[in-house]
Amino acid sequence: MRLQLLPWALLALLAGGGAGIPPHDDAARVARYVVHQCDWGALATLSAREPLRGRPFANVFSLSDGPPGPRGSGVPYLYLTALEVSVQDLQVDANASLTVSLAQTPYCKKKGYDPQNPLCAHIIFSGTVDKVNDTEAVFAKLALFSRHPEMASWPQDHNWFFAKFNITNIWVLDYFGGLKTVTPQEYYNVTP
Ligand SMILES: *[C@@H]1O[C@H](CO)[C@@H](O)[C@H](O)[C@H]1NC(C)=O
Ligand SMILES: *[C@@H]1O[C@H](CO)[C@@H](O)[C@H](O)[C@H]1NC(C)=O
Ligand SMILES: *[C@@H]1O[C@H](CO)[C@@H](O)[C@H](O)[C@H]1NC(C)=O
Repeated sequence: MRLQLLPWALLALLAGGGAGIPPHDDAARVARYVVHQCDWGALATLSAREPLRGRPFANVFSLSDGPPGPRGSGVPYLYLTALEVSVQDLQVDANASLTVSLAQTPYCKKKGYDPQNPLCAHIIFSGTVDKVNDTEAVFAKLALFSRHPEMASWPQDHNWFFAKFNITNIWVLDYFGGLKTVTPQEYYNVTP
């Protein structure tokens, strides 16, 4: 049975991962799905440096919620260094917002959905970026390095560390009629 399912899962991935998007009224599952499909996100911090101090600063970060496969953990893991300008913002104020979108996958282009079209599902998170402990770092490393092999060769003297986006609020835009709210509890408890 398992062996028969495997090629279909592979086909779905090759097709752009769009085949498996959950129904739009199942917002928590849509959020989990989009996060797992995305290899990166836009992370907005509050700038800690002049001339922008206190103003929003959006930057791109590679992320992963787990190795490739049918489902992830839902936790957006990050590989960071204090040399990075946004990480310096986070050291002053760890509050941040993270956005991921199916526009980052072939799905929306294939469907003819503009990135701003809600049908091109996008998820907005609010929370904090927190370093993970050594136990969780083992999984974070597996999640990140399996999907971002280049990370293994990033300069060691930059003191990279594993972090996660600690989600406090979730908004899902996957259909007409405005933002849907999902609680972190709903997000983590759902089977994606
Ligand atoms: C997040 O922002 C709130 C409101 O400004 C602040 O009280 C809190 O300390 C910040 N949290 C962190 C972890 O920096
Ligand atoms: C590490 O963090 C995880 C996730 O927050 C937590 O469940 C676990 O208890 C922590 N382990 C240690 C040794 O602190
Ligand atoms: C995640 O955020 C919650 C709520 O803001 C906070 O209580 C918790 O300590 C944070 N977790 C970590 C690992 O920093």
